[in-house]
Amino acid sequence: MATRARVLMVCLGNICRSPTAEAALREAADEAGLSLTVESAGTAAWHVGNRPDSRSRAAGSRAGLHVDGAARQVTAQDFERFDLLVAMDASNAEALRRLAPDEAATFRIRLFRDYVEGQQGLDVPDPYHGGRDGFDEVVGICRAAAAGLVTALSEGDA
Ligand code: 4NP
Repeated sequence: MATRARVLMVCLGNICRSPTAEAALREAADEAGLSLTVESAGTAAWHVGNRPDSRSRAAGSRAGLHVDGAARQVTAQDFERFDLLVAMDASNAEALRRLAPDEAATFRIRLFRDYVEGQQGLDVPDPYHGGRDGFDEVVGICRAAAAGLVTALSEGDA
């Protein structure tokens, strides 16, 4: 791993979960004094250029987390630009595996909740078609997983 790890958070639309995960990872890294490069992207192009969903920004605000940015689509070049590509759910991870330039690159794909003890293999649930509680839940899940990821990066075990 490079001294300053580069981490890309990936979901489907890049307007709900991955921008929240990006903000949570920045927050956790700042708190730990860990220097990181963090971005986010979506596997789909539907929302390219858009700010995060207003419901995600509002859920972040309620929890004191600043969620913002402009959506973009993940590309094969992201495997060169980032050390870790962290998927919010299993289908995002599968889409990343299809995009990976070679097999070695697939070993740098992670599932975000794998960094939380007891939550291995679980998805960050997609809140898009649900209510406000789902957006609040995503903030909490992202904060827990971000803390775990920062610990793993600090220990050279990500
Ligand atoms: P995200 O959520 O992948 O967490 O950004 C979604 C955003 C948009 C859609 C689905 C999920 N959509 O169907 O447009």
